[in-house]
Amino acid sequence: MEKTFIMIKADGVKRGLIGEVISRIERKGYRINKAKLFKPKRELVEEHYIEHREREFFKGLVDYIADEDVMAMEVEGEDAIEVMRLLIGDKDPKVAGPGTIRGDFSSSLSQNIVHGSDSKESAERELHLWFKE
Ligand code: CDP
Ligand code: MG
Repeated sequence: MEKTFIMIKADGVKRGLIGEVISRIERKGYRINKAKLFKPKRELVEEHYIEHREREFFKGLVDYIADEDVMAMEVEGEDAIEVMRLLIGDKDPKVAGPGTIRGDFSSSLSQNIVHGSDSKESAERELHLWFKE
């Protein structure tokens, strides 16, 4: 069994999609091991998205999530990292297929409801970052 880090981002929480997202994860057969709804500090969000720090969208990305309610989760199941990415869908609304979370609920390249770790290394790093303590 594999663990991955999933976050319902600020737009997902504001739009009342917590239940929808969790329900899709559970229906697929995955387990929510940990969950916390809180407002992450700027430094935590910057660290989370550190790989994008040089990108032009970085500040906007941090502004959209920092100090806003998000739901951080540890999700567990068979090949959880890859399967959750599939369930989430592509960040490009022109690519995200219907039936995926982003495909069904997002028309934006930046505000796209949910984050999921993209590799084993990211999952370990992100779970540690968001759930230390
Ligand atoms: O979230 P995902 O791993 O699918 O995509 P990413 O390329 O790692 O980008 C991380 C996040 O940055 C995206 O989910 C968007 O919220 C944001 N982003 C953006 O605002 N504008 C872009 N051109 C690319 C990404
Ligand atoms: Mg990514």
